[in-house]
This record gives sequence, C-alpha cells and structure tokens, in this order.
Amino acid sequence: MNREVDGRHTAYRAVIAGTGSYAPAKLLTNDDLSKMVETSDEWITTRTGIKQRHITNDDETTATLAIEAAKIALDDAGIQGKDIDMIILATITPEMVFPSTASFVQKELKAKHAWVFDLAAACSGFIYGMAVAQQFIESGRYKNCLLIGAETLSKITNYKDRTSCILFGDGAGAVVLKRTEDGERGVIYSTMRADGNSWEALNCQAYGSKYPAWKELDDPSKIYMEIHGREVYQQAVRKIVTTITMCLKKCGLTLDDVKMVVSHQMNARIIESAAKRLKLPGDKIFVNIHEYGNTSAASVPIAFDDCRKQGKIKKGDIVILVAFGAGLTWGANVIQL
Ligand SMILES: CC(C)(COP(=O)(O)OP(=O)(O)OC[C@H]1O[C@@H](n2cnc3c(N)ncnc32)[C@H](O)[C@@H]1OP(=O)(O)O)[C@@H](O)C(=O)NCCC(=O)NCCS
Repeated sequence: MNREVDGRHTAYRAVIAGTGSYAPAKLLTNDDLSKMVETSDEWITTRTGIKQRHITNDDETTATLAIEAAKIALDDAGIQGKDIDMIILATITPEMVFPSTASFVQKELKAKHAWVFDLAAACSGFIYGMAVAQQFIESGRYKNCLLIGAETLSKITNYKDRTSCILFGDGAGAVVLKRTEDGERGVIYSTMRADGNSWEALNCQAYGSKYPAWKELDDPSKIYMEIHGREVYQQAVRKIVTTITMCLKKCGLTLDDVKMVVSHQMNARIIESAAKRLKLPGDKIFVNIHEYGNTSAASVPIAFDDCRKQGKIKKGDIVILVAFGAGLTWGANVIQL
C-alpha cells in the first residue's frame, strides 16, 4: 500500500528516474564583476556565498541549455525522446515570446508523442512543474514526464546595477519522472503558494503586453530585472521555514527522516538562516551557489542533480526541494528517491 499523504492514497507514484544539468562554459567571477561595478569579491562572498556564475555566449540560449540538460537526464533514465509523454519547461527567460521554449526542446529530442509547454513561476517554477507532472502521473494518464528548469538570466541582468548583477547566472537542470507502482518511492507531497500583492519585489517589466517593444519606455532599465533585495531576503527565510515545517507535518515526518533539503540557491545566508531556524544540521542542506549564483527556475534542478551525482542522496532517501521567488511564489516537493 502506498504511503498516505493528506488523507490520500494513489495507485501510481511519480518516481525520479533520471537527472541532468548543464551550464555554459564561460565564467563570470566576483573579480570580473569588481571591474564592472563598485563591488568586491569579499563583499559578494560574505553577503551571498557566490564566487562565480556561468554565463551564456551569444550563440547559447535558454533552449540550447535546456536541451543539453534534458539529454543527460534522458540518458540517466534510460529512455529516449519518443518515450516522453509531456515536457514542462520552467523559465522566466524564454527563447522568444512564442512559441514556447519547450517546443524547441521537443523538436531536438524528437519527442513526437509529447505535448509541451513553458511554466512561468520564476524561482519556484521547477517546484510547480513537479507538482503538475506528479498529478498527470498519479492519475495514471502518463508514464514519462520530462521536467526542465532553464534560464539565461544574464540576458535580463543590468550589469550597471551592483545590487542585482552580482546575484544571477545561467544554466539548466532536468529530471525524468516515471510512473511506478512501487508504493514507497516517488513524489510524496507537493505544496505551492503565491502572493501577487508583492509582485513588485522582483520583476522584469519589458517587453510584454504592458510595455510592448514598439512603445518607448519611461525608464530604459525596465528591460532588466529589478529586485528589492532586503524585502525579499526576510520573506524568503520565513517562507522556507514555514513551508518545510508544513511539509513535515503533512507527511508525518521529522527532520530525522529527511536526508537532504535542496533549496533554491538565492543567497547562502538566506539558506543558512532558514536551516538554523529549522534546527537543520549543516550536512542536511545542499549548497552550490558558490559555483552558479542564482539561476532562478534552473537552480533547484541543478542543485538536485549535483547533490545526487556527488552521492549525497541515494535510492530510498527522503529529500525536500524548496523554493521561493518572484510572483511572489513559493513551494516544496517531498520526494522519496
Ligand atoms: C541583495 C543582497 C545580497 C543584499 O545584501 P544585504 O546584506 O541585504 O545588503 P543591503 O541591501 O542591506 O546593502 C548593504 C550595503 O551594501 C551596499 N551594496 C549593495 N550591493 C553591493 C555590492 N554588490 N557591492 C558592494 N556593496 C553593495 C548597499 O548600497 C548598502 O550600502 P549602504 O549601507 O551604504 O546603504 C541580499 O539582500 C539578498 O540576497 N536578497 C535576496 C536576493 C533576491 O532577491 N534574489 C532573487 C529572488 S530569490
């Protein structure tokens, strides 16, 4: 019999069958940024934990990164493009206005049976996407879902604004979710929340229907990301703590049962502060922000893949993925590997 969660049993579970990640080769270090804006390696490292970010060149796009990560995840899962029923691609830096970035991935992977779409929930996009894939698999409708988080945030970063340009990088991460009847394993529980009242805390306003490309902008910096860092910082800590606490309660688990928390990598201090409030030991929280910076929707799947490939989590372990970001949006997935 399957584990009961939230008063619910399901015949099928969505199990993680493969993971992959990919980041562009080009690096942007703290020292590089110190030559572009008034900042220092010391300031960035102590305030954020970030040492470098991977940055796309002109030929690399969100789709090219997504395709590379997806190929690795498919290989890892031992399936091919033709086996995929659905592709969800979480991003806030799509290939173009339309079609969806997922369409380009489908074409390249020859995933001819898959229906595909992009999901825009910023840093929480991968968590939201996993919940969507989970529903389609648990209902029995699909066998294999490809979920990708991919971003080229460097393309909407203002490299004259030192409060934001130090934070962001590019990359992609992917997982294959497979239908299983093995009751204990798979996505156990997902929670997703949002608060549109605070949309201004993190935004990039042009170009969409409010500020179309043909209209002159009142403020040219609207083409870049704008962040209200201090406000976001406090909210992020609080939401991570309450979300994980709620997940444990809903699943009848304690922190002792959890092998690893893989958080969205927004700032090492935010992650550490949340872990401290939760009384989560340091070896149960995965951090790789020093290498990638904040890659929004790609952050959780890149960290999850890194953590798995470093052998820190293995089959049978319980892992919590958690994220917070623009929208505002936040959420978590509890998974037994
Ligand atoms: C952005 C962030 C790193 C700033 O760190 P902080 O400790 O809150 O720093 P503050 O904003 O309070 O700024 C402290 C000082 O450093 C200065 N400063 C800001 N950026 C700087 C930089 N890159 N280099 C040097 N000094 C900088 C500020 O101007 C301020 O100076 P002042 O005290 O003279 O006014 C942090 O708030 C953060 O990570 N927030 C969340 C980020 C986010 O929104 N991520 C995306 C969504 S998940």
